[in-house]
Amino acid sequence: MKKELNRLKTLELEVQKAIKQVARNKDVKSYIQETEHVYSLLRKGACRYITGEKRDDGIGIAQKLVGEGYRVSLEYIGENTMTVEESVKVKEEFLHIIEDFSRHSMQQTVSLDLSHIGLTIDPKIAKKNIIEIAEKASLHNITIMISMEESAKTDAILSIYKHVSKNFSNVGITIQAHLYRSREDIKELLTYPGKIRVVKGAYKEPTDIAMPRSNELTENYLHIVELLIEADHPVSIATYDKNILDELEQRNFFQHPNVEIEMLYGIQPNLLNELKNKGYPCKIYLTYGNDWFLYICHRIAEHPENLYQFITDIVSSK
Ligand code: FDA
Repeated sequence: MKKELNRLKTLELEVQKAIKQVARNKDVKSYIQETEHVYSLLRKGACRYITGEKRDDGIGIAQKLVGEGYRVSLEYIGENTMTVEESVKVKEEFLHIIEDFSRHSMQQTVSLDLSHIGLTIDPKIAKKNIIEIAEKASLHNITIMISMEESAKTDAILSIYKHVSKNFSNVGITIQAHLYRSREDIKELLTYPGKIRVVKGAYKEPTDIAMPRSNELTENYLHIVELLIEADHPVSIATYDKNILDELEQRNFFQHPNVEIEMLYGIQPNLLNELKNKGYPCKIYLTYGNDWFLYICHRIAEHPENLYQFITDIVSSK
């Protein structure tokens, strides 16, 4: 039995590695996008995790969830935009989300990757675009959350965040507890007003700069959250880790006025629902867009068992 479990674990790790490689393979992506039956088949499996391809899909589900008592965060999926024209188009799409939220009286959150709005081309482009987005969002009482990407971009992302945060307190940042540097970064981030979303970290990083999933990482996660709570700083607890959530609940952290719990759409929905039913502020991070393939690969790679669900969803959908 133990041997069989080990074999399954090894297989899952191989699937995880393969999926990470496939995710960034341009030929595979073009093949999927250009082959209608493959595209529509995979889309059936993706439906659990993305709201759809159009902004209206995201806005519709956001309205429904807000009606059920959740907070929401909405992202137009994408990263590493390679041309200035594309980065401007993406920025326009984020401005449209803000307009739609405002039209539906939803003072909610918009999430984005800075590399989606130009960071990979030139940090100045991302800075210019995020300022425009932050300005419009602040007029409509909407929060912008900047995601954290791989460690090669951490300095650039933090630098842009600090610049924007000085003028726009409605802009927040994500911090990855798995990076050793985060213990220091957090001290400086506490001096800026924006909300801080705490995640473990999704990217594979060298072992000298990041810790693996471990007790050490759990402790670091709890330590960062504790610093934020003690400083009365707005914080989003973004994890599905039951041990961490139980520990924070025991410490009464969820009753703190500046705290919310945030999970991605379609992942551990029952856990978030339980927390919401206890009266804690819970947020669902929604995504939409054509570029869902990479997003889905990330969700399977971070939890290979999701592959079984993905296949089941494809087979059982009509
Ligand atoms: P961990 O990975 O240890 O998982 C704990 C348990 O949660 C697992 O044992 C499993 O039961 C469950 N679980 C985890 N992932 C699952 C999945 N995909 N499907 C089903 N169950 C799963 N990362 C990043 O680097 N930059 C970012 O900006 C963000 N942004 C972000 C926003 C939000 C709202 C969330 C929830 C997550 C992110 N992440 C992220 C991802 C984050 O870094 C991390 O990879 C995942 O949250 C999984 O880590 P956990 O803390 O849940 O712990």
